[in-house]
Amino acid sequence: MKINTKISAVAGWLPDDVLTNVELANMVDTSDEWITTRTGIKERRILKDPTKATSDMGANAVKLLLEKTNISAAEIDLIICATVTPDMLFPSTACLIADKVGASNAFGFDLSAACSAFLFALDCGSKYISSGIYKKVVVVGADKMSSIVDYADRKTCVIFGDGAGAVLLEPEQDKLGIMDAILRVDGSGAEYLKMIAGGSLNPATTDTVNRKQHYIYQDGKTVFKFAVTKMADVSAQIMEQNNLTGDDISWLVPHQANLRIIDATARRMGVGSEKVMVNINKYGNTTAATIPLCLADWESRLKKNDNLILAAFGGGFTWGAIYLKWAY
Ligand code: UT7
Repeated sequence: MKINTKISAVAGWLPDDVLTNVELANMVDTSDEWITTRTGIKERRILKDPTKATSDMGANAVKLLLEKTNISAAEIDLIICATVTPDMLFPSTACLIADKVGASNAFGFDLSAACSAFLFALDCGSKYISSGIYKKVVVVGADKMSSIVDYADRKTCVIFGDGAGAVLLEPEQDKLGIMDAILRVDGSGAEYLKMIAGGSLNPATTDTVNRKQHYIYQDGKTVFKFAVTKMADVSAQIMEQNNLTGDDISWLVPHQANLRIIDATARRMGVGSEKVMVNINKYGNTTAATIPLCLADWESRLKKNDNLILAAFGGGFTWGAIYLKWAY
């Protein structure tokens, strides 16, 4: 019998410190009005403790997940960490999370796909369940974006925030869980959204530091254009190939990059704004964490059999959509 993969639990973790638009307006030449109307963001969370990193946020989310499901860490088979801000280039953040939560029987790896990474990791993790190989896979989306943001650059510093979310994947016999996925990359978009230095092409030197090449570079306008088109296209495509109309969709769970991109996607899908998860106002763009943080915020309102479309667009370029039937 075919094994489906369901999300059986979700948890989110956010740092306590809040950075508001008003505070940012004291740091760079911007205003609450500009940020709110152009992005929908009012505030974001920042992990200020210099001794903490992405793995700490991810581990906190996984610990919450284990607490609420009453599952011991030793039962986890696999941890996939979606992130663009690993604690270090190696070891992987998944290794560090496994150690911090005590997942002594798991293997794990990081998955790099910027803002689409949670979707890519969810699809990847689901294959280990539906193949019958594993029973408990944890997918983490976590990013400490404040570690790669230049707080003197108004074009990027207003957008990003820190946070982590995690889901537990388990086998499902009924027709629930992950139904379909469309995932894409186009590396010709690399030049528009990137961190130039710190990798094998431009290893860290005093020169790369002086040129501020260890921060996010984004050509916002170009990325916006692609994001609006690709996220809406892929969402419409996954609906079409599953014979779904806007009325069939219970929730759109979009990557939180810009409220205007989210609105355009929902319009294209014929989904009313009351069925769109939006928390960008509170957390900004937390990159790989946006989608699991939405699921965590809306968990109490989700019902078994709800049709969810998860959609994202990000650096790479990367984009995709996943159709799933909520399982609890
Ligand atoms: O999550 C991964 C994928 N990323 C995205 O999807 C992000 C896509 N891009 C965007 O969301 C938007 O392009 C931004 C929010 C980044 C920028 O909004 P925009 O409406 O595209 O603004 P813009 O870059 O076209 O800039 C318009 C003006 C410029 O001034 P001039 O040249 O017209 O005088 C900018 O210098 O706004 C200026 N500007 C700002 N002004 C006040 C740019 N950033 C700011 C700012 N405060 N923070």
